[in-house]
Amino acid sequence: MTIPVIIDCDPGHDDVFALWLAAGHPALDLVAVTTVGGNVPLEHTSRNARIALTVAGVTDVPVAAGADGPLVRQLQTAEWIHGENGLGGPELPEPTVPLDARTATELIADTLMASAEPVAIVATGPITNVAVLLRDRPELAERIREIVWMGGSTDRGNVTPYTEFNAWVDPEALDLVVRSGMRFTMVGLNVTHRALVTAAVRERIAAVGTATAAFGEELFEFFCRTNDEVFGMPDGPLHDPVAVAVLADPGCVGLVRTRLDVELSGAETAGATSVDLDGMLGREPNAWVATQIDVDRFWAGVEASIARLS
Ligand code: BDR
Ligand code: CA
Repeated sequence: MTIPVIIDCDPGHDDVFALWLAAGHPALDLVAVTTVGGNVPLEHTSRNARIALTVAGVTDVPVAAGADGPLVRQLQTAEWIHGENGLGGPELPEPTVPLDARTATELIADTLMASAEPVAIVATGPITNVAVLLRDRPELAERIREIVWMGGSTDRGNVTPYTEFNAWVDPEALDLVVRSGMRFTMVGLNVTHRALVTAAVRERIAAVGTATAAFGEELFEFFCRTNDEVFGMPDGPLHDPVAVAVLADPGCVGLVRTRLDVELSGAETAGATSVDLDGMLGREPNAWVATQIDVDRFWAGVEASIARLS
């Protein structure tokens, strides 16, 4: 049995690998892709998602554009990591995968209605589109199997000392989704900072020898360079596919059931994820939070999935 999954993303280098892991993994059935303004403005993330699927030969999955910015805040972007077009490095081909005429909310709604079984949503950017869906179409919640999101952290941030980028861009959306009562899993920097693009990983992916792998190597080259320049991390952390691995290979990522609250104010703390691992606040657990990753198993899954693509 495969799990039908929608990827909601803001490509972004690591989002591309999330799309490829979802498209190539035998445990998953990628049924739709939606995009959000995040790493770069929506126009670029939408085009980049179509390019990622085009490169991989995935031509039967609809792609729809969603929110061009957060629920209430101004969009903040991350060109310093991903480049001006969001996919710095390779020469980008003209995408042959079209942009669906529907909005992200419409595409997700149609996909949920058409599915015989509940559909999982993996969000790898600011979680605005999912928040809009739950706000405007709450009757569809029962058709969503679960929501897995890359973002947040149980410890340090990557934008301010305590905020991670996706959470920091749209904390109000995150708060709405966490409070929705849906099964929600947070895959934060505390685990994604272990999914490092080492030289050995790069060799391993390049050795797959396909067009997708070659494009991926050019993405890695740029992404590792900017992560080195900005964070002093020459082996860049490939955050987003870890959220896909939660669904694709459950034993690969260890989860704990705990309390998650989202800070909505504070000069440096708006968007901080308060993860009460020790139960200090005495509140009901409301989320699953990733705390462990089997790194070798993760990369084996990424490699095998890329090998199944063009
Ligand atoms: C997250 O922010 C983005 O830059 C990445 O694509 C990832 O989703 C990591 O903080
Ligand atoms: Ca992302």
